[in-house]
Amino acid sequence: MVQTDFGGAEVVSLQDVPEPVCGARDVVVEVAYCGLNRLDLLQRKGPGLIPGFRLPHVPGMDFAGTVMATGSAVSSIAPGDRVIADPTQGCGGCPRCSVGDRAYCVSPRILGGNTPGALAAYVLASAESIVRVPASLPLAAAVTLPTAFATAWHAVHTVGALDAGEALVVHAAASPVSLAAIALAKQAGASVVAFAGSDAKLAAARAAGADLALRNDEPDPVKAVTAFTDGAGADLVLDHVGTSTWRTSLDCLGIRGRVVLLGNTSGDQVSFSLREVFHRGLKLLGAGGYTSADFVAATSACFSAGLHLPTAAQFPLEDLAEAWDVLGARDTIGKVVITP
Ligand SMILES: NC(=O)c1ccc[n+]([C@@H]2O[C@H](COP(=O)([O-])OP(=O)(O)OC[C@H]3O[C@@H](n4cnc5c(N)ncnc54)[C@H](OP(=O)(O)O)[C@@H]3O)[C@@H](O)[C@H]2O)c1
Ligand SMILES: [Zn+2]
Repeated sequence: MVQTDFGGAEVVSLQDVPEPVCGARDVVVEVAYCGLNRLDLLQRKGPGLIPGFRLPHVPGMDFAGTVMATGSAVSSIAPGDRVIADPTQGCGGCPRCSVGDRAYCVSPRILGGNTPGALAAYVLASAESIVRVPASLPLAAAVTLPTAFATAWHAVHTVGALDAGEALVVHAAASPVSLAAIALAKQAGASVVAFAGSDAKLAAARAAGADLALRNDEPDPVKAVTAFTDGAGADLVLDHVGTSTWRTSLDCLGIRGRVVLLGNTSGDQVSFSLREVFHRGLKLLGAGGYTSADFVAATSACFSAGLHLPTAAQFPLEDLAEAWDVLGARDTIGKVVITP
């Protein structure tokens, strides 16, 4: 699927393109499933958000598939291996890449973000970004892991430092990142309050482990979180929604509470007084791109506990237009998946 312009679904069409050529440290994977992300949709509408984005472009960051070919310097992976990959590829040589912080590479390469992605029969990835999928996990489940769980791991653990016994609040609870965060928080022994826009989403949040699931139109969300935490307030809030949730995020935190900011789906501008932050000892934490260690830790945690996300809908490649519609609608629960 090749994007040739910015706009509606019509700017992406099925085309014949040359098969990827495997470099010495690369692998070529036959894509079984591609999981869509909001970034795919945003970059289709335009403008390109990842530095270095160029048209024509093949979208699709998350995939699961079978290795077809490996480069001459690759010994850890073999043809036939069932794999997923960290879409954050990096350049391999800059100071950030050398410490595993590929998201902040000087010339970042994001598979499906600014390099050819997985809405294709074959995809090229660096061998160091590849993780083997255990035989017990179907590829259809594995495709739900990469971006959602690595992002959630980074937010919950690496940045949020969530401890057993603490209380976490998540918004947009049935979104992929939020469902992953709920599952990881429960695995860590925390309790979770989840907010979402519909009863079906609340059911999904509960299925992922949320202890208390409340609708966005809950009359007094701060009071509900305060009651749930016996008056203490939340220890950690994850907020990727932005403008519409910011006030609740800040107000439901307890003394020395942390809020991790990792998205702005509803808007980017918020306001607050400095006093309300420093008087209560709050910590405002940004979570941009996860590290390669986050990716490995997240996928390992999923493999050992059998964690994955629900599939909201699955479409063949030629029905991508319908898939974009599902992704763009606000009632999606879990991942939208494409089968090339
Ligand atoms: N920092 C990072 O590294 C990183 C990585 C990946 C993703 N992200 C960001 O994290 C966020 C979540 O991504 P995701 O893939 O889990 O899910 P998503 O598809 O972006 O989440 C959609 C949900 O957001 C809520 N929402 C609130 N306001 C909305 C609005 N104005 N329009 C549409 N939806 C709105 C809705 O839930 P309710 O109706 O239940 O409120 C909706 O179901 C995105 O902003 C994404 O860009 C950040
Ligand atoms: Zn680099």
